[in-house]
Amino acid sequence: MNTCILGIESSCDDTSVAILKNHKILSNIVCSQDVHVRFGGVVPELASRDHLKNIIPTIDAALKTANISLAEINAIATTRGPGLMGSLLVGISAAKSLSLALNVPLIEVNHIQAHLLAHFIEDAEFKGNLKFPFIGLIVSGGHTQLLKVTDYFQYELLGETLDDAAGEALDKGAKLLGLSFPGGPIIDKLALTGNPKKFYFPKSKVQDLHFSFSGIKTALMYFIEKNIKEDKNFIQNNLEDICASYQHTIASMLIDGLQQAIKETDIKNIAIAGGVSANSYLRKLLTQFQKETNADIHILPLKYCTDNAAMIAMVGYFKYQEKIFSDISITPITRWEGFLNK
Ligand code: KG4
Ligand code: ZN
Repeated sequence: MNTCILGIESSCDDTSVAILKNHKILSNIVCSQDVHVRFGGVVPELASRDHLKNIIPTIDAALKTANISLAEINAIATTRGPGLMGSLLVGISAAKSLSLALNVPLIEVNHIQAHLLAHFIEDAEFKGNLKFPFIGLIVSGGHTQLLKVTDYFQYELLGETLDDAAGEALDKGAKLLGLSFPGGPIIDKLALTGNPKKFYFPKSKVQDLHFSFSGIKTALMYFIEKNIKEDKNFIQNNLEDICASYQHTIASMLIDGLQQAIKETDIKNIAIAGGVSANSYLRKLLTQFQKETNADIHILPLKYCTDNAAMIAMVGYFKYQEKIFSDISITPITRWEGFLNK
């Protein structure tokens, strides 16, 4: 029997709806909000208003693209958290309405868990072959976590950032350089023509398998302050090299974490997920790392790295198989610590 899941993602500034049939994604519509760009970061109130405007047309577009009718949907999966309160509320409310109207189960999904389980998505062009156990590295705008994953819902946290996330370090670094938002993809693009070894930024060393990225952002701030005193056009004259060097340090810290995790767990099966895993330089270093270590490294197509509802529908599918449904009274969990539970 076929299982059709409608997935909704609205945790931050992307309104996304996907339709999944068994493991296969039939549509994955992402409506990104550009109202935040001129504010240099996501403005929560504007984000929720935009979600409100976009949610129904995005649901319609997802159904139409998938050529699926509402009557064929078996369950509604939605991001419950972590994320912005107002943004999450829009997606959850839409999901509850659909669940009630169609008389199908409501399934809550943890956004971070969904980033990782996106590796099990299949579509017309992509089919991963990730096997358990594996080491998961989640690198997003708010999270940097290393996990040992033994089943869809069985995780052991190996390490995480003690302060800023990798994406946050890139976004804040971009802001210091006067670049737009979100900074990660802008740094990625500028760094393509820069020299990653031109400037040196020290890597932060913390205990065990944890990370720390706030030090490198401070190092960049002092570096800019110092050099601007000597050359007021220092940033403009060296932008590509600064981006490449800064990005190199952050990406290398992530690779170091993976190396250490392999050493400690003896698992060479690695899956990277989250927005920062779209970074072209990190992807290049990972390919190099794979050759050097013989590790089996799994990276996702770019559309499944950044926020999308396909990953929410995927987790919805796994929960549907185990009949893990949510109550209609659920409310957003803006800070969702740990997702080891189902
Ligand atoms: O996973 P995601 O889309 O949203 C969160 O759950 O946070 O990740 C967003 C983060 C932002 O920090 C953004 O700058 C970063 O991912 N990002 C990138 C790239 N694309 C998105 N960072 C570096 N290079 C990219 N190409
Ligand atoms: Zn995300």
